[in-house]
This record gives sequence, structure tokens and C-alpha cells, in this order.
Amino acid sequence: MSHTIVLIGGDGIGAEVIPAARRVLEALRLPLTFVEADAGFAAFERTGDALPAETLRLCERADAILFGATQSPMTKVAGYRSPILQLRRHFDLYANLRPAVGEGVDLLIVRENTEGMYSGRERVEDDGETAILERVITARASARIVEAACAWARRRRGRLTLVHKANVLKETCGLFRRVGLETAARFPDVAVDELLVDTAALQLAQDARRFDVIVTTNLFGDILSDLAAGLTGGLGLAASANVGAGVPVFEPVHGSAPDIAGQDKADPRAAILSAAMLLDHLGYVQPAAGVRAAAYATAHTGSTTATAERIAAAIT
Ligand code: IPM
Ligand code: MN
Repeated sequence: MSHTIVLIGGDGIGAEVIPAARRVLEALRLPLTFVEADAGFAAFERTGDALPAETLRLCERADAILFGATQSPMTKVAGYRSPILQLRRHFDLYANLRPAVGEGVDLLIVRENTEGMYSGRERVEDDGETAILERVITARASARIVEAACAWARRRRGRLTLVHKANVLKETCGLFRRVGLETAARFPDVAVDELLVDTAALQLAQDARRFDVIVTTNLFGDILSDLAAGLTGGLGLAASANVGAGVPVFEPVHGSAPDIAGQDKADPRAAILSAAMLLDHLGYVQPAAGVRAAAYATAHTGSTTATAERIAAAIT
């Protein structure tokens, strides 16, 4: 059986690291079919749509999507919606898996990926002086993300830390905490503790080795996963998976890095490690382990293409 993978480079270095990851995947000689598709800010400027209908159509028929990065404007641009946020929502990819590995650290952040402060329910009052965001937390999304995190903890070292800010956000984080603890109680083989998000940041910085699986809400997970990446080799090595109901999306945690784009400078290893997560997900467990070992054993040469070549050559 062959699998179809849609490759979306996107903007900036995204369009460089995805071909590099493809190079490595092709070296494995697996029955994979690659289809390239367009998305991002450049696509938006060209077509008026950051995630063109044709791209979505290709994604719907695929087994997995490997996504680079897209440039997100800092201010509101009429008609622009972040393609990665659209894909997460479209396919109901409710779990964002972000491993951080290195220097005695081996942890997995399981980030809720569909609600919280990413609800999109944000507005400015008529006077232009007050901006309001609705932070949406539901029992359903909280239960399913903690369930996913418990399943991962079971497959790992059996420990789960629930991260929230229920001392201040009594209703939203309060609900996440209550449903989370109830859900985790159904996994007696998983040892559960909880931390406030500020304390979690401190403990990550001081001793990340104590963590196995961390489960948290959307924005907290976004921030803590960058912190965890910074502790374990930086964004050059940070990979992620968006999984849930529909076609899964694998992406490096880094962005489009316009400052170094177009110079063949970007470290392709985060994209290559994301491709390894994709392989695992499709059941190619041995090839995934080979890619991972080669990526960790290879330093970034300073050239995207040269590093990818070396990794492809190092796969045994
Ligand atoms: C990430 C990114 C995205 C996010 C942006 C680009 C919308 O920072 O995947 O971590 O905030 O989720
Ligand atoms: Mn982020």
C-alpha cells in the first residue's frame, strides 16, 4: 500500500526545509507519493487565499501533510487567515504533540490545539480603547486532550503533569483542571501531578528532566513548547505533530524566518524530525527511528541542502 503525502513549504525558510525533508524521505525508498501544494502569505498575495481550495482538496485526499511555515502578519490583514490554524481546525487536529529531547531531557508537550485563547473570538469595542478576547474551554476538548496525553504517558514513563492557571482563571482553567483530573483518574497506571503555568516555566528552566508528559491549554502549550525547545538544542531541532480526527499535519515548531530566507542557511533538522514523526504515525516505525538517529547524529553544516544530504547519507 502506498501513502500520499502533501508537502506545503509555505513562506520563507518553510519552502527550503520541506524540500530538504523530502530529500531524506525519498532516500528511504518507501512507497510514498509526494504532492506539492501551495499555502501561506505569498499564496494569499497571489491568489487572495492563504489556503487555496485546491490545496485543501489535495490535503483531504492525503494520508498526511508535511507543513513548513507561513508568515503571519502582526496586524489584521483583511481576508488573511493563518493556514496552519485553518488546517488544525478543518481536520479537527485537537492534539499538538511537541517532544523535546536532549541533555537528559525527554519530555512531550501535549498542547490542546482547537480552543482556548485561539478561539478567534476577539474584538475591539467601538471606542477603540478596549480589546476583548473570549478564552473558550470546553469539557469535551479538555477530556479528549487529557485522554490523549494519558495514552502517551502510558507508552512513555507513565507520568503526566497537568499545567494550568486555575488560581486566577477560575472558570476556564478551573474547568480544564477539573475535567483533566477526572479524565486522568481513569488511567490508574499514570501518575498525575499538576502545576501552575508560571511554576511549570520555572521548573522547565531549572530541571526539565523531571518531566515526562505535560498536557496544557493552547497558548500555554505554544509558549512552553518554545521554552522546552530552547532547552534542548533550540528551534533547529523542534518537531511537532498535529493529530486528531482528520488528516494529520507535521510541522517544525519554527517559523518562516524571513531574515535568513532564500540563503540555504536554515537548519532542516526540525522539518526532518517532523517527517520522522509522520513516518511513525503511518506505521513506518523502523525508518522513523533511522531518520531520527541520523538527524541527531548530524550537525547543521550551515547549508540546508548539504545538511539534508548528509542526513540522507547517514541513514542506515
Ligand atoms: C506554532 C506557531 C503557530 C501557533 C502560529 C504560526 C499560528 O507559533 O505552531 O507554534 O501559534 O500555533
Ligand atoms: Mn508557536
